[in-house]
Amino acid sequence: MPELVEVENLTKKFGHLVALSGLSLCISRGITFGLVGPNGSGKTTLIRILCGLLRPSSGKVSLFGRPAPFPEMRQLIGYMPQLESLYLDLTVEENLLFFASLYGLKGKERKQRISNILELVELEERRKSKVEHLSGGLRQRLSLACALLHSPELLLLDEPTVGVDPELRYSFWGYFSQLAENGSTILISTHYLDEANRCQRVLMLRTGRILAEGSPSEILSNTGEENLELAFLKLSQEAKNVV
Ligand SMILES: Nc1ncnc2c1ncn2[C@@H]1O[C@H](COP(=O)(O)OP(=O)(O)OP(=O)(O)O)[C@@H](O)[C@H]1O
Ligand SMILES: [Mg+2]
Repeated sequence: MPELVEVENLTKKFGHLVALSGLSLCISRGITFGLVGPNGSGKTTLIRILCGLLRPSSGKVSLFGRPAPFPEMRQLIGYMPQLESLYLDLTVEENLLFFASLYGLKGKERKQRISNILELVELEERRKSKVEHLSGGLRQRLSLACALLHSPELLLLDEPTVGVDPELRYSFWGYFSQLAENGSTILISTHYLDEANRCQRVLMLRTGRILAEGSPSEILSNTGEENLELAFLKLSQEAKNVV
């Protein structure tokens, strides 16, 4: 049985810059997979390749057991980009209607999904507000809602909790747990290592290469460190010494 996400020897170059270098990884169905690494380490590039928005320079990607990209994958994936892609002059509801139409949701089902999602991210009361009048955290919630609208099996969330206050971060992780319980697979990039600690598996990236991959406890026992932050710093220092 193939894994939900299989990446083999993936390289992505932008001109002379090597953003990802010979990356291989698998993500099993139903898990929450954390992607961590410093600015410019290749997290967004990897996520954009998985979504089919960028083509790899070489290597293979397969999703749901099929070579990616393939046309139907849009229905199976929910992508929350690092930079919000909302329409500021439209209301919360109008944004959701727009994304619903992209996913082919119609009629009763569309109405029901929008209501459910607004409830999940606690934005019912702001349904008629224009996005330009929402705070940054509320916009993050709406971006997440747009990614979840079509009940995707695989969620690709690029730093969904950046700039989000601790209370909202806590409720975001509540939504993620609910989604995971319902069988979604979640890939989440983050700079917060306490968030990585909540994932079943973690991939640590540095300059487009894998520093470590495993469960948080495996990474801790392999590095002999007491938390993921120290483990990351140690692995990063070791990698620098090798270069
Ligand atoms: N479209 C592009 N054209 C040229 N270079 C790019 C492009 N997209 C990304 N890069 C470069 O590829 C490298 C990886 O970038 P990427 O955005 O994947 O990093 P990241 O890990 O997501 O960083 P951050 O934590 O800042 O979001 C960086 O050096 C970046 O400048
Ligand atoms: Mg990024």
